[in-house]
Amino acid sequence: MEIKPVRRAVLPIACLCAAFFAASVSTAAAEDNGVALTPPMGWNDWYSVYCGVNAQLVEQTAQEMVANGMKAAGYDYVNIDDCWMASSRDASGNLVADPTRFPDGIKPVADYVHSLGLKLGIYEDAGTTTCAHLPGSFGHEAQDAATFASWGVDYVKYDRCNIPYADFPGESEQQVQQTLYTRMSNALKATGRPIVFSMCNPDPGDDPWQYGASIANLWRTATDIQDNFGSMLANFEGTVDHFADAGPGAWNDPDLLQIGNGGSSPLEYTTEFSLWAEMAAPLIASTNLATLTHAELAIYENPNVIAVDQDPLGRPGVPISSAHGLWVLAKPLSGGGRAVLLFNATNTAATISTTAAAAVLPKGRVYQMHNLWTDAVTQTAGAISAFVPGHGVAMFTVTTVGKRRGHKLPPHTVLSLDAASPQVGVGGSTTVSESFTNVGVSDVKKLRLSLSASPGWQVKPLGRAGVPLLEPGQRFTVAYRVTAPRSGPPLAFSIFTGGASYDPPDGRRTSSARLGELVSSPVHAPLSTVDVTTHPASFGASGRELAISARGLGVFNPPFGALPTDSYAAIYERAAARRSSTAQVTVTSDPAGGISGGAGLIERDDMTNGKHSRAGVVLYVNSNAAIVMAWNGSGGADVDHYVAVPSVTVKAPVGLRLVRRGSTYAGYYSTDRGKTWNPVGTVTVAASASRGRQDVGVFHASGLTTWTTTATFRDLRVR
Ligand code: GLA
Repeated sequence: MEIKPVRRAVLPIACLCAAFFAASVSTAAAEDNGVALTPPMGWNDWYSVYCGVNAQLVEQTAQEMVANGMKAAGYDYVNIDDCWMASSRDASGNLVADPTRFPDGIKPVADYVHSLGLKLGIYEDAGTTTCAHLPGSFGHEAQDAATFASWGVDYVKYDRCNIPYADFPGESEQQVQQTLYTRMSNALKATGRPIVFSMCNPDPGDDPWQYGASIANLWRTATDIQDNFGSMLANFEGTVDHFADAGPGAWNDPDLLQIGNGGSSPLEYTTEFSLWAEMAAPLIASTNLATLTHAELAIYENPNVIAVDQDPLGRPGVPISSAHGLWVLAKPLSGGGRAVLLFNATNTAATISTTAAAAVLPKGRVYQMHNLWTDAVTQTAGAISAFVPGHGVAMFTVTTVGKRRGHKLPPHTVLSLDAASPQVGVGGSTTVSESFTNVGVSDVKKLRLSLSASPGWQVKPLGRAGVPLLEPGQRFTVAYRVTAPRSGPPLAFSIFTGGASYDPPDGRRTSSARLGELVSSPVHAPLSTVDVTTHPASFGASGRELAISARGLGVFNPPFGALPTDSYAAIYERAAARRSSTAQVTVTSDPAGGISGGAGLIERDDMTNGKHSRAGVVLYVNSNAAIVMAWNGSGGADVDHYVAVPSVTVKAPVGLRLVRRGSTYAGYYSTDRGKTWNPVGTVTVAASASRGRQDVGVFHASGLTTWTTTATFRDLRVR
């Protein structure tokens, strides 16, 4: 146990953006159509139904937005994406709605949406056809803008598929897009109807934020989002640095919100919403609103976070630091405060800290912190700090406050946990430190800390677990010796939960913090492990079960154009695959992770030598739950051929069987616990790649460089 004065937080990088905080807003360059002065809020059908949009869905969603409180919370655009059109224009060249999807056309739908006090958005494309190959606006800009205005459209999302670049010799893609987007911008203005103009041209090499503000209300900054943490993170990272390009009437658009689509955790959805609000991004839900859970709706309707997004100053958050995936952003607010976002992009809970000075708040002796997700209001002497779960955020508005009012508030405190080692073997021990910091301006009294762990753990405090007084700026730490259960599954996540209870001036308070710890059961001979990723993998074996936790881009990356990557982790048996042999395993986890990831069987000449070993064959379930076989047909260093079972997706458990006859391999899979074995393919590898015995085992790659996923297996057999 020890009490220490807290050292002043030293920023990893000095904020070079004081000028940005100080500068008054310049809207001179911003689109001057008078709309979207704060980031648009609403709904778009794309990620709920893709090409399945129709009038009924749009009208029902509008009703839902009124009934579920979203309209009252500020969501007012109901946006139709691609696929609303008929496949050709009418005899006069006018766009026509698809007669089955919108039997009465768009105008009555717009009228209905307007009757509910909402607005209607539509989708078009700057090219000859849309991304779904329906008529584009190229050469019809004025006519289409007039059509939209006559229907009562309030918002146009304008895409960039199928642009005839050949018509613009010598011009870059960006130049052509700028020309075509300007055409539509002018055409919309010429209609006299206030219409939000949303550019959708997020291709590598095109930087719409460089010119978007003068012609459009928003522009996409990143590629099409998917409902997973990695994609959300990539779109955040692709947007956050463009804070100086946005302002009232002109916004960076990191793409549609995924909350409710089922691919991320509630914590990750909370993070997505917070990041988007901090960046002053459009808040456009792209999900089935009718099936949102209460918790998901509560994210969409959090008034504190919406207020940050919609702050009339219209300044996106400025990144102050991002070292080791621990992000600090500060967003200037009207009234002089800051919305401070602490975002943990890593997998492990961590303390993230900044100061009022770093957030360029006016000098003060006491600051008020309003936690936008818990609604707690505390005071601080200047440190802004929180223990943030992996993939999570803490979000505060911070303002200066008078000394008297400040002292009436409870002090801001931070409870944090830190394990000496993030992974132990079964029966192994490590030390967990639990710290409680008082960053406020008044005392904390009668502080008591506690630590509990998942069942089977022993927890022994190594010092006193409480202290009668903790003054402003002091930290109290207690260490615990923790010992893992003697046996368990191959890899298991345990949770330590820290608790604090204490008296601030106005009564008793409690807080808690959680930290994950990985427990592994050792892999024994004849099995060995190999990790050819760039981030340490974890392995475990217990009875018939095996588990691998790893990153890595996988063993093969087509059809997405990238080069073979050969980055995975494996549990295998050396030289166990004879020229005539069968390897079999059951994959017991469902896929997770990025597009090039997977889990399954691997056979190659030398498993330990990554890129330099002649590759053999892999048979696996990929991250899209498809069954894939990939192999080395050239005798080079990499797997270079690929076959997937068409239109089959699988759920665990999935049996995989690889039958070798010299340099020919036949792959099979079973989804009925081995009763039937369906063929995947028969492949012949380069003879030079499989002369004799091969190493054989199971492998996993998350398909991502940013985070780790776990695959589990049962009954690996080689005969
Ligand atoms: C592109 C856009 C998406 C969506 C589809 C529709 O991919 O980026 O947001 O509009 O087209 O086809």
